[in-house]
Amino acid sequence: MTEQRPVTQATPTDAAPAKAKPALPDAQTVTEVKHYTDRLFSFRCTRPQTLRFRSGEFVMIGLMGDPDPKTGRQKPLLRAYSIASPSWDEELEFYSIKVPDGPLTSKLQHIAVGEEIILRPKPVGTLVHDALLPGKRLWFFATGTGFAPFASLLREPQTYEDYDEIIITHTCREVGELTYGHDLIEGLKQDELLNEVIGEGFWKKIKYYPTTTREESPKMGRITDLMRSGEAFEDLGTPKLSPETDRAMICGNLAFNLELKDMLEEFGLEEGANSKPMHYVVEKAFLD
Ligand code: A2P
Repeated sequence: MTEQRPVTQATPTDAAPAKAKPALPDAQTVTEVKHYTDRLFSFRCTRPQTLRFRSGEFVMIGLMGDPDPKTGRQKPLLRAYSIASPSWDEELEFYSIKVPDGPLTSKLQHIAVGEEIILRPKPVGTLVHDALLPGKRLWFFATGTGFAPFASLLREPQTYEDYDEIIITHTCREVGELTYGHDLIEGLKQDELLNEVIGEGFWKKIKYYPTTTREESPKMGRITDLMRSGEAFEDLGTPKLSPETDRAMICGNLAFNLELKDMLEEFGLEEGANSKPMHYVVEKAFLD
């Protein structure tokens, strides 16, 4: 469409010509935002037509940073975010922490429907089925927003085709931080499409084990401590992990990842990668 200027409108000679706001590079439009606590929120956005990814992978997303005080130039401010939606979904979903003075999340937490984010369509990651050998039982170990890649994998048909049992443990500080995961798992029970595609009642393979550490809830404590004492295995009615039957994916804060990795190694499990599938894989939750 050609731009037409009304003939009556004078062109100010001393003012810079009005410019259209430049579109963000790799822009995607936000379609939904949900806030869970003052520290957590999730949002959905459009999916680039060319983006193919494996459930469990992450991409770089972000916003334009503040203008440089000297040059006025703006640079994209990007962070790695696990895609929380499954590979078949038309849209993309992300689950994020809000860090009050975090360069990106202090802004991203105010994003609204219709606004744009930057999304580099180059998915990568180790929390993928391809990095694990076949097994009987799959464990997802998460803390905080580390639940995100499992939100993707819990909606991925292959998860239920490949395993007899899926155990998801989620350790958070407070009860409200469990809502996203709890609602997602409850949603699977009512999801007509998934029940049809994967098989009616597929969700009965899931054992959900949420725990809190700083607020009263039915099960309190760090999952690492609960496993060490044996309480978690008693509660779940499951034997300790073994390399013959068990596969695991870990996604949480750094100290948690390292501690759990050591525990799994003590059980005899070995770390896998895309190039060499083994018994477990680790990813860190990407905090601001
Ligand atoms: P805690 O409250 O005892 O520190 P964060 O929000 O700091 O990322 O932590 C998320 C959850 O992970 C919290 O419940 C926290 O427990 C727990 N956590 C932190 N470090 C470890 C660890 N090394 N092993 C197990 N759980 C941990």
